[in-house]
Amino acid sequence: MDYRNFDINFGAEGKKVLVTGAAEGIGQATAIMFARKGADIICFDLKEAEVTRNEVEKCGREFLGITGDITKDEDIKNAVETAVQKFGKIDVLINCAGIGILEKVEDVSDDIWQKTFDVNLTGSFKMTREVGRRMLESGGGKIVCIASQAGVVALDKHVAYGCTKAGIIQMVKQCALEWARYNININAISPTVILTALGEMNWNNAAGEAFKQTIPARRFGYPEEVAACAVYLASDAASLINGANIVIDGGFTIG
Ligand SMILES: NC(=O)c1ccc[n+]([C@@H]2O[C@H](COP(=O)([O-])OP(=O)(O)OC[C@H]3O[C@@H](n4cnc5c(N)ncnc54)[C@H](O)[C@@H]3O)[C@@H](O)[C@H]2O)c1
Repeated sequence: MDYRNFDINFGAEGKKVLVTGAAEGIGQATAIMFARKGADIICFDLKEAEVTRNEVEKCGREFLGITGDITKDEDIKNAVETAVQKFGKIDVLINCAGIGILEKVEDVSDDIWQKTFDVNLTGSFKMTREVGRRMLESGGGKIVCIASQAGVVALDKHVAYGCTKAGIIQMVKQCALEWARYNININAISPTVILTALGEMNWNNAAGEAFKQTIPARRFGYPEEVAACAVYLASDAASLINGANIVIDGGFTIG
């Protein structure tokens, strides 16, 4: 592909974008941002995604909502098959479904460790593998995985979560190494605290104020800032970016 042959507005006109975890939070903002840029959306989430559906449809785009659990192989296969049946292909996958259960190392139970890995790392891998197989057949695509600053630096009580996110950052490098030649781009985004509804609830307090003082930019992020980066990474303008981890952290991981 000619590297100058891209839409300078990073449009996603007519693209078929599968977003996991799009019922809420960062995934929801990302699905809506893609719809604003002209994409049709497939949402895969444990929960119904009515708000996301309304917002996508307000943009005049199609919305396919699939409820499913990313820890279940049959749900992943069913979601990808249903999406391909409806839209013919998947152009973009955004792996956003994730959980975070924070405990001190000595208090992390086997269940917490396993559940965090099943959802965050194994779930993202299996969805990537399933969609990647289709992209190999259809001639390429873009994949963005939401990791975390906790996959880059150590943070108190983040051992299980941080290991899954570091694993995602490495998975992205591995997939890029093998798939770049097939016109597939796969990158990670690693945000700091993002003010989703849940983020507001957890961090709009004294501990949040103290944490902000450790961020060079002295603020947290907004879901739309992650969504905008995902839209860019999924655009042809970013076609030489592969296997990267883009931190959106106000400089937190610099030092
Ligand atoms: N919010 C932050 O501060 C922050 C910071 C860094 C990274 N992240 C990452 O961004 C992603 C989204 O986070 P968020 O804050 O928007 O979370 P959120 O809880 O608001 O949304 C996560 C979505 O994933 C879905 N989900 C959870 N488990 C699932 C499963 N087993 N199968 C299918 N769907 C499932 C949930 O139903 C929910 O809709 C996560 O991977 C998270 O680790 C978040």
